[in-house]
Amino acid sequence: MLKISFGALTIAAVLGLGFAGFRGAKTELTHVEWFNDMSHQPKEQPQHHSTFFNDGRSARQPVAGTVPIGFNLEGRYFQTEGNNLVDGHGGFANQPDYFNTGRMGDVYGDGIPAFLAERGADLLARGQQRFDINCAICHGKAGQGNGPIKAFGLMTIRALTDEGLRAQPDGQIFNTITHGKSTMGAYGPVITVEDRWAIVAYVRALQKVAEGKLAAVAETKPAEAKK
Ligand code: HEC
Repeated sequence: MLKISFGALTIAAVLGLGFAGFRGAKTELTHVEWFNDMSHQPKEQPQHHSTFFNDGRSARQPVAGTVPIGFNLEGRYFQTEGNNLVDGHGGFANQPDYFNTGRMGDVYGDGIPAFLAERGADLLARGQQRFDINCAICHGKAGQGNGPIKAFGLMTIRALTDEGLRAQPDGQIFNTITHGKSTMGAYGPVITVEDRWAIVAYVRALQKVAEGKLAAVAETKPAEAKK
């Protein structure tokens, strides 16, 4: 009985292999696809004819109001209430200057771009709001590196008040936000250029507060102090 079933199994295996063929073997015969190979996917390809849509095209028109990556709508500032921020500086434009990269040639520059620094307390308030939304989850509201995510196991989060980060130029922190750093992801695609600078200004304020110098705290809010 055992012999017979073993024999049957062998024959079935040989037949099965013979029928299915060997992958990679050369043959003149038409290739049999048991399942769709990955090269034949039931999907529409751009610039191809389609029988699926009425107009015979595979590509659809973008949704009205779609903005291509790297472009701004004139006079529009994204991610803010109202259109009240400086025109042309609001988006995700990708120019090689200091404002857009935090770099001056090959080195990181220092300082908040002047037209933003002028906004004083407003800029800090905006920075705080954006920081709390985007960064606090990991770095903590006071930037101590102890946000809720730490409890979920991301142990490498840095305290933004560290000595080493206090010594970094503004441009480098801007660059970290834009491109991320090792285990930290890039926030450039989701935070506008201006907002990234606002966050840098706010991180500076957190660092000064952590240093505990009252004079330094007053220094970070010049516009408010003048009122
Ligand atoms: C998902 C968690 C997470 C979020 C959100 C996050 N970070 Fe980080 N960040 C990290 C981790 C982890 C590191 C340490 C990276 C490493 O291993 O060097 C880090 C490092 C940094 C550093 C130090 C980089 C260096 O030079 O060592 C800065 C500055 C920083 N983050 C700023 C920010 C700011 C500003 C935001 C908000 C826009 C932000 N991070 C959002 C996780 C996060």
